Amino acid sequence: MKKTFLLAGTGFLILAALAAWAFWPRSPWTAEETELLRSLWIGSLPPLPPDPSNRYADDPRAAQFGHQLFFDTRFSTTGEVSCGTCHQPALMFTDGLPLAEGVGTTDRKTMTVIGTAYSPWQFWDGRKDSQWSQALAPLESAVEHGGARTMYVHLIAEHYRADYEAIFGPLPDFSDRNRFPALAGPVEDPTARAAWDAMTPEDRDAVTLVFVNMGKAIAAYERLLLPAPSRFDQYVEAVLNDDWQTMNTALSGDEVAGLRLFMGRAECINCHNGPLFTNNDFHNTGVPTGTGLPLDRGRASGVQALLNDEFNCFSQWSDAGEQDCAELRFLVSEGEQLEGAFKPSTLRNIAETAPYMHAGQFATLEEVLRHYNHPPASPTGHNELEPLGLTRQERAQIIAFLRTLSGGVNAPGALLQAP
Ligand code: HEC
Ligand code: HEC
Repeated sequence: MKKTFLLAGTGFLILAALAAWAFWPRSPWTAEETELLRSLWIGSLPPLPPDPSNRYADDPRAAQFGHQLFFDTRFSTTGEVSCGTCHQPALMFTDGLPLAEGVGTTDRKTMTVIGTAYSPWQFWDGRKDSQWSQALAPLESAVEHGGARTMYVHLIAEHYRADYEAIFGPLPDFSDRNRFPALAGPVEDPTARAAWDAMTPEDRDAVTLVFVNMGKAIAAYERLLLPAPSRFDQYVEAVLNDDWQTMNTALSGDEVAGLRLFMGRAECINCHNGPLFTNNDFHNTGVPTGTGLPLDRGRASGVQALLNDEFNCFSQWSDAGEQDCAELRFLVSEGEQLEGAFKPSTLRNIAETAPYMHAGQFATLEEVLRHYNHPPASPTGHNELEPLGLTRQERAQIIAFLRTLSGGVNAPGALLQAP
């Protein structure tokens, strides 16, 4: 009698344990996958790396001045173009166009500025190695702001003398228009270039120093534009904390399936990894040449431009010692893999920044996924991608996942509009 009682009791306990085991919530991710998720999580973003080439990078006054310059359309030949024309806060600092339009039309798609302070290379081809040197390029591009450096230093003297001097010290006297012509700089326009060549080396250096400081102020502002947490980050945080309730509500089943494909069979994570979803390297993914554009060799020409750049980390305008320029010292400057290679963009806020790729070749994420599924031969060099064999449903799941990466900008609202 007692024995049967005991047996029944034990049986019941075993059953109860089994039931608890079966119904106890468990993470759908293995320990290894969980670590991978953690690596993509925004909480894994390290503090901003210092920029030894820009001694003003973390000066709040420089950032404030840079904020003004970023949105000031007077700094263009038409008086209508600022950095903010193409890098619009409402579009996550892009412009919605396949090819950017300033005073003319460029041959590349506008990239976001959010989080790029983490990137060792700027532009699709990485032809700049700092944000301050990057900022100087559109100012002297014939199709972006259209101007040349003497024009900009005259504008600084006219409109921003006090702001400039408070940070960088006294402005030289640029008032003699014979010594400092209205439009002179090492630019495409032959008249402006000839005027530049006619200036004394000392006068050219005085102008260039002020121009460089503009770039350093703009870079200080850009360092404040960081990505904000998205629904994906809420989900990962829940996974890391065993918070079942949030885990089940933050992402839908399809979004989780897309995430699994992204990290697994679709191999997106090979290039789009880390909390910004980019490995900051250069890859040939066989994106077709933009309609009507010349062949784009990407990193193969970008690396040469970088080595010849008068504003690179080794230059006299950089505040870094040579030993600080690790990226440039260990630069991979040759090799077949550079041909037709581009920087994998951050995928944070990607659903808000169509069209896609370096010349806006794809209008939608559906087109992007079709490209990855059937990668074509590259217009130049070797396409690294292999066909994926994803079904229509799997492609839709990956897109659903990409849409969970929209979290916007983590910066005070005042910084996201013209001051
Ligand atoms: C005419 C539109 C236009 C204007 C004006 C413009 N940009 Fe851009 N920006 C672009 C395009 C296009 C690219 C990519 C160009 C390339 O790769 O050759 C880009 C790239 C960048 C990048 C590189 C991001 C990365 O991930 O590598 C930064 C940073 C940037 N711009 C900041 C600025 C700043 C600062 C200004 C103002 C001084 C500015 N831009 C003015 C269109 C513009
Ligand atoms: C071999 C490296 C590599 C792999 C793997 C890879 N990408 Fe990319 N991705 C890139 C590069 C490089 C670019 C920019 C290419 C260009 O513009 O020519 C890019 C661009 C993109 C863009 C457009 C970004 C923009 O701002 O225009 C999206 C979206 C994207 N990738 C998603 C994915 C997805 C989803 C997968 C997996 C199916 C994936 N990538 C796999 C390297 C890669």
